[in-house]
This record gives sequence, C-alpha cells and structure tokens, in this order.
Amino acid sequence: MERAGLSGEFHDLSEAALNFESGGRTHWGNLGDWQHARSYPDACAALADRLASGLRLDGATRLVDVGFGCGDQILHWIRRYGVRHIAGLNLSHSQTELARRRVVDSGHPGIADGLQQGSVDALAEWAARTNQAPVDAIVALDCAYHFPSRRAFLRQAAQVLRPGGRIALSDLILARPGLPLHRRALLGVMGHFSRIPPENLVGRDDYLAQWRDAGLEVEAFEDITGHVFQPFGAWLERYRASLEPDVAHRIDWKKYRATAAFLRWADRQQVLRYVSCVGFKR
Ligand SMILES: C[S@@+](CC[C@H](N)C(=O)[O-])C[C@H]1O[C@@H](n2cnc3c(N)ncnc32)[C@H](O)[C@@H]1O
Repeated sequence: MERAGLSGEFHDLSEAALNFESGGRTHWGNLGDWQHARSYPDACAALADRLASGLRLDGATRLVDVGFGCGDQILHWIRRYGVRHIAGLNLSHSQTELARRRVVDSGHPGIADGLQQGSVDALAEWAARTNQAPVDAIVALDCAYHFPSRRAFLRQAAQVLRPGGRIALSDLILARPGLPLHRRALLGVMGHFSRIPPENLVGRDDYLAQWRDAGLEVEAFEDITGHVFQPFGAWLERYRASLEPDVAHRIDWKKYRATAAFLRWADRQQVLRYVSCVGFKR
C-alpha cells in the first residue's frame, strides 16, 4: 500500500527510502512477511518466497509477473529459483523503467524485454500479442487489491494459464462481510487514498468464489495477517529510529506511518486480513 509520490505516479520509486538496510541495493515495495525476517528487504523477499513455493517455481517455469514493482522479485525469481522465462506487466512507468534497467544490468536483457508497462486490464490481449500464453504460472505479489477489478484479473489469468498452470497472490480481504457503517466509511476513505477499489475488498467466501468463478481451483488459502500488519508497523518505528537524523529528515514518513497506523487499526478492529492464496487452472 502506498500513496502518490513526487513523480506524479501513484506507484513510483519512493519506496527506495524503505530499503536502506540493503545499502540501497533493493527497491522492494510490499508489506513483507515478518514471521522470521528482521529487515525490510528480507521480509519482502520472504513474502515473495511464500508465493514462489506455492507456484513450485523452477528453471522450466514460464512465469508471468503482474505488478512487479521495481524488479526485485524478478531478480529473486531468477537468482533463487533459476527461472529463465519471465514476462510481466506493471502499471507504473517509472518502476517498469527501473526494473528493466536492473534486469539488463544483471545480465538478463531477454527477460528485461518481456517486462512491459501496462495494466492487467489488458493481460489476456497482451499475452496473446506477445506470444506469452499459455504460461505455467502467474504471480501477483501484494498488488491484486490495487487492480481495477480482481475478478476480471482472475478471469484473464485463467485464459493465459495452461490447464494445471498455477497462480499465487498475496492479497487483502475483508475480515468479515457486513462491517458497521463507520468502519466501512473509514475503509472507503483509506481505500480511495491507497488506490484500492472498494469492490476488491470482499470477505473470504466471496474471495474464494471469485477464484472459482474464474475457473481456478484454490489449493492453499492462508491468513497471514499476524506476520504482516502489526510487524510492518513495529519495524517501521524501529527503522525510523535507527536512521541518522539527517537521513531520516529527508524522508516523507507521513504516508508510511499512515499506512502502518491504518493496518494496525484494521487488524485491531477486525476490518481487514492479509492472505496468501495459491491455486491452479482446472
Ligand atoms: C504495493 S506495490 C508492490 C510492488 C512489488 N510487487 C513488490 O512486492 O515490491 C503494487 C504494484 O502493483 C502495480 N500495479 C497496480 N495496479 C496495477 C495494474 N492495474 N496493472 C499492473 N500493475 C499494477 C504497481 O505499479 C506496483 O508495482
């Protein structure tokens, strides 16, 4: 979750400020899986690993990655899992440009070519036009809740996957349907500022129905809220306190602190849950 940055794009390069623990070598921008991790880059990579193991990635996987951020996960699939065929779409121009540059610099210009700016709205058309489909796996790491419609995305994903092909998302859902009006209203406001379409926030049963309706069999659905919401906020405070004052002063903390406070509230008040969901095309 993030807010508009200096480039004018909502999804931009501002998350670099969260990545100093890697000496600036990473540009991750997800909420992280903090079950074992202590640093932000490690937590982000751990969330990626959670999806990778569900996808059973290996050197033979033809993978499509949607919402690939600044490319850290692309480098991760290559380095840790040996994936050789990756293509993807990212709405953000600035992130796509940086991701492509980093993947070229890492010695994989062929993979960089397949990383393109565009919205998942056009996933099926793009996959057909670029001869990607049918693919073995699709991943959406901490981004499907931002998509114009998760339901439409899942339908298009099913068109792009081969039968038996696997798909993994880390995602936000409602803790329960029928929230009290005042919580629903605050959620609507936060969703508006965080670019989360209200129709993407559904309870567990509706969420699983979206997968089923798209022709996707859910194999593993896990609520990992406890590893994400509160620990992200706790890390943010530790991180902020650990930076040299002149470095800390140059960072606009408002959006991150607002996100952390919102997630804590959403957890305490049983409004949102964070889940990982893995399935395959029937
Ligand atoms: C919270 S960031 C996560 C980035 C990255 N997956 C990571 O883990 O660091 C959400 C990502 O989804 C992308 N995104 C949002 N809406 C999109 C859309 N309609 N189509 C494709 N990508 C989208 C953003 O540009 C951004 O890269």
